[in-house]
Amino acid sequence: MSLIYLNGEFKPIEEASVNVMDRGFIFGDGVYEVIPVFNRKIFRFDEHIKRLETSLAKIYMNNPLSKNDWHSIFDKLIDCTQELDQSIYLQVTRGISERDHDVSIAGKPTIFVMSRPIRKNDFFSGIKAITHDDIRWQYCDIKAITLLPSVILRNKAKEMDAREAILIRDGFVTEGAASNIFIHINNKIFTPPKTSHVLSGITRDLLVEILLENKISLLEEPISENMLFNANEIWITSSTWEIVPIVKLNDKLIGSGKPGLIWKEVNNLYQEFKGTYCN
Ligand code: PDD
Repeated sequence: MSLIYLNGEFKPIEEASVNVMDRGFIFGDGVYEVIPVFNRKIFRFDEHIKRLETSLAKIYMNNPLSKNDWHSIFDKLIDCTQELDQSIYLQVTRGISERDHDVSIAGKPTIFVMSRPIRKNDFFSGIKAITHDDIRWQYCDIKAITLLPSVILRNKAKEMDAREAILIRDGFVTEGAASNIFIHINNKIFTPPKTSHVLSGITRDLLVEILLENKISLLEEPISENMLFNANEIWITSSTWEIVPIVKLNDKLIGSGKPGLIWKEVNNLYQEFKGTYCN
């Protein structure tokens, strides 16, 4: 039977509930991670836990569990989910308190973890994206559960028959509503540098590593809106979507309107790496 983990207990999701005074519910006062599992193996565990700790530190919280504890919770949830490829969702909130912004009055954190099958998709033939002003706040490097801007942005994309919104701040690309971005232009690959306006994506960082290892040059430099529209390839990355080519941006075809050759090469390298690790 599929179970979830909540505050020290494994139980069916129907039996799980949190207090209405939880600061996650009242303030959106918490952070989360989405960790992919391929072939039943947790992918980039250390990196996700490290980013969790960074997010927690930025909201004045400590990691409530040891790495071993996290690992055994994940293992148990993976075991009771049938699919080979899963996505673990974990959320830590500041717990229950009176409705007061002061963080010092909060009690124990609330810890929730679930694992769900990764939905298979048609992304490998490329997707459509829209561009939109980056309407989010200034601390996008924190993986905060307060995702209302991203929810709105993804739905703006949906209204235009697109799957993702590429965000522009002051004329430069930051990332997607729930993904990082790479472009190929003038024979060079670019990805925006990591700033507080960009989430430090685990897939992004892995791709940077893979490119370096394979001596494929990459520039971690700002991408202007103009460069974005003149790119011959655009890809977005995330833990569950992996590396997805964007073949149409607003009404403009990118390259030939089909996934590009550089994406194919890079995606093969990524899949090879993943295959070795998760065999
Ligand atoms: N989102 N940027 C943002 C704003 C994101 O929400 C995500 C991932 C990424 C990619 O990060 P990673 O490679 O570590 O998954 C970048 C997850 C998948 C989500 O919110 O569901």
